[in-house]
Amino acid sequence: MNKACPPPIETNVGGTQDVYYANSMIVPLPMMDHAAGIYMWDEDGKEYIDASSGPMVSALGHGNKRIISAMTEQANKLDYAYTRVARSRPNLEYAERLATLAGPGFERVHFASGGSEVVDNALKFLRQFSIATGQEKRRHVISLMPSYHGATIGSLAVGGNEDLAPFFDGFAITSETIPAPFSYRLPKGHSPESYAAKSAEALEIKIQELGPENVLAFIIEPIGGLSTGAIVPPDQYFRDIRNICTRYGVYLVFDEILCGAGRSGKFITAHHWPDALPDIIVKAKGLGAGYSPLGAMFAPAAMVDKLANLTGCEFSYSYNANPVSCAVGLAVLDEFERQNISERVGDVGNMLRAELEAIKERNQIIGDIRGKGLLLAVEMVSDKKTKKSLPDSCSPTDSIRKHGLKCGVMLYARPITGNRFGHWFMVAPPLNITKEECSELLRRTEASIIAFQNQLIANGII
Ligand SMILES: Cc1ncc(COP(=O)(O)O)c(C=O)c1O
Repeated sequence: MNKACPPPIETNVGGTQDVYYANSMIVPLPMMDHAAGIYMWDEDGKEYIDASSGPMVSALGHGNKRIISAMTEQANKLDYAYTRVARSRPNLEYAERLATLAGPGFERVHFASGGSEVVDNALKFLRQFSIATGQEKRRHVISLMPSYHGATIGSLAVGGNEDLAPFFDGFAITSETIPAPFSYRLPKGHSPESYAAKSAEALEIKIQELGPENVLAFIIEPIGGLSTGAIVPPDQYFRDIRNICTRYGVYLVFDEILCGAGRSGKFITAHHWPDALPDIIVKAKGLGAGYSPLGAMFAPAAMVDKLANLTGCEFSYSYNANPVSCAVGLAVLDEFERQNISERVGDVGNMLRAELEAIKERNQIIGDIRGKGLLLAVEMVSDKKTKKSLPDSCSPTDSIRKHGLKCGVMLYARPITGNRFGHWFMVAPPLNITKEECSELLRRTEASIIAFQNQLIANGII
């Protein structure tokens, strides 16, 4: 127990994690007390490595003094200015800086408080643009199955999750889905390339089925997050989907909320495929790096300015472009530059991936390592040869988290889409993690895997 801290407050209510989530006590959650860099400590003084930056948020680790001073300085100077009645310098400077980083085609930036809000903003912007330009029928959104784009009603509805069908039935209109370009457990006769080509083909078929004049957008995480376990489609896939969207006048939206802000080795993930740029990009998570809620939608000046001259896109939130959040965003960009993050991610990411591959070779329950940069996923299986998933009865995602906590590493995993696509956990530490810290992360992660594996063997599951 940290002596400087007041005694813990006893409460009968609990936090969201105690009272709202089903089976909240399956994985007992530590009561975190303080954090620094990649480490967090609970109230009992136990140390954990934050192996996934929370949900891929804490891009620069915890306790960065430069960001904290920028935040407090801004809060002291101007804590809030409502965008409908005032302008603020941090908003303008941050928009300018992000637009410059994004480059041609993304000259306009609109801020919100997180990923779900910016996905909603992108869809509202595109719908409004279509109406204002005489294409009222464009309303269908296509997404991947599985996929995740947020938790507001609108962003949840465009995610690919069959389990939510009863929730949305008669309540909101969900997106149309096509198969995600998975690379690991493929139908017979397919390579990752041929399956990705088939997935792109499915987009064209779906657009034709719905009637191109009725389709508004195709939204995709260019590099998968938790929903697919970091799938990275082949380069050709991006050219294919870009061509299809252009052919039918369907807007292509890249959801870089999780994979963006340097995690893949480039600040703008779309820059990995410069000949297949999307129409709209949305980013969040790493932008505020955990220091402030922040999300941004990037759009072409040609579209934004045209719409402003017609009807405008008038939807807003009270916390749009909050000056303190924008000051944090600017300080995060400064730190990315100062710490040379993009270069580090490539280098450390390669080392982490190679070591995870070695862990895969040494352990029978690890079937696949995938991802890019410092966005990696580890898929657990019961049989490497057949790629058979572990049985749900052994709660693979909860179990690995539990073992992780015992071994001092916080691993992010949870059941996705009824576990129909498999079980994986994320390895996505803060982007400024050192190689030495990676070695310790790997040691604790392998210890967690071995502990889970031994439990499965003892119970006769593998
Ligand atoms: C790909 C993707 N899009 C959107 C979101 C929603 O972001 P937020 O939780 O900030 O609302 C998430 C969050 O996990 C995400 O991973």
